[in-house]
Amino acid sequence: MQSKALIRLFALAINISLSLGAALSLISRQSTSTDSTPTGISSDIWDFPNGTWVENLAIRSNGQILTTLLTTPQVYQVDPDKKAPAALVHSFTGFRGCLGIVELKQDIFYVVVGNATYKTFPDTPGSWTVWRLDMTKFVTNKTQATATEVAAFPQSSIFNGITSISPSSSTLLIADSGAGIVWSLDTITGAKAKVAMDPLMAPTGTPGVGVNGIKVRQQTLYFTNSQQSLFGSAPISAIGKQRAAATALATGIATPDDFQFDSSSNAFLAGNDQVRFHAAAGGPVTTVSSAALLVGSTAVQFGRRWSDQNSLYVTTHGPLAQYASGNFTSPGRVVRLDLSWEKGSN
Ligand SMILES: *[C@@H]1O[C@H](CO)[C@@H](O)[C@H](O)[C@H]1NC(C)=O
Ligand SMILES: *[C@@H]1O[C@H](CO)[C@@H](O)[C@H](O)[C@H]1NC(C)=O
Ligand SMILES: *[C@@H]1O[C@H](CO)[C@@H](O)[C@H](O)[C@H]1NC(C)=O
Ligand SMILES: *[C@@H]1O[C@H](CO)[C@@H](O)[C@H](O)[C@H]1NC(C)=O
Repeated sequence: MQSKALIRLFALAINISLSLGAALSLISRQSTSTDSTPTGISSDIWDFPNGTWVENLAIRSNGQILTTLLTTPQVYQVDPDKKAPAALVHSFTGFRGCLGIVELKQDIFYVVVGNATYKTFPDTPGSWTVWRLDMTKFVTNKTQATATEVAAFPQSSIFNGITSISPSSSTLLIADSGAGIVWSLDTITGAKAKVAMDPLMAPTGTPGVGVNGIKVRQQTLYFTNSQQSLFGSAPISAIGKQRAAATALATGIATPDDFQFDSSSNAFLAGNDQVRFHAAAGGPVTTVSSAALLVGSTAVQFGRRWSDQNSLYVTTHGPLAQYASGNFTSPGRVVRLDLSWEKGSN
């Protein structure tokens, strides 16, 4: 009797922890259901000055957000808790702007730096470089990060997204949007090679913005092509070399920019003034949010803390039209998008 009661109590406890687990999995991004789609509530984290194009971001292990600017050759740290103003991390003198950023080892980031400017598109071919940005000694307002140039790419057209191949690899991949090519860069030897080139990566306009965001999962390269409005993939080797023709996973996605996967390999795509969703299982691309704060969305990353692991941080450049008119009325931002998963048919 006593042991039965104990067993019941035990069962109850397990039940509680199971339902707690179920509840937690509902609010975590471990969604395994194929018929649920995420929606998001946006909130403003940091407004840069009007006329600032915030291009990309990476999240540090301590949760702080590193953002690259295209309109100045700078990386800033943004506090997700809004307790401190954005702090300058590094200025790349002799260049005009920064694009992709990725962390390879803890607090060691790599940044795409070159002469991009919305005013002189198609930019300066051959000006593109990749820099190592060491954050280990960075102290806000005291010690800037240490930056060293890893490689220059005199054959480049317009560099854009950058990604690692795997946590154990020292090789990075970099998208050349203007050429429709993906390069590899060995961060130890500095060796570089053209590793992927595909009709689905090619630009179709002038200036050329073909392959843009890139990510690798299990020896598959995933990419967006802004001008072909598609999200695609191609099998690659352990050193990044394309092994077969690329496939379009989703088409008709207007001007996709950079993207990120959740832990279930669902993709969240910036671009076209919104954040969109492509399920790992396929199916139609849906809108997560097209809130006004997301105008000019450029890239997304998940938070790395318990409190924000189900939230996306989104960088934006504000309305594109202001870069043509020169009448800047809206800032580039870092926006937080809190996701929730809803069962349903949308
Ligand atoms: C990039 O732009 C800077 C500033 O305008 C200029 O000094 C530099 O020579 C340019 N670099 C290349 C490779 O064109
Ligand atoms: C860094 O300096 C700026 C400008 O003086 C100040 O507003 C900000 O609070 C400082 N940040 C920290 C974390 O001390
Ligand atoms: C700039 O844009 C704002 C908002 O659209 C508009 O009210 C203003 O008249 C514009 N200024 C100029 C000089 O065009
Ligand atoms: C941007 O410009 C608008 C219109 O001139 C102004 O209301 C706003 O305060 C500016 N924002 C920033 C962050 O400077």
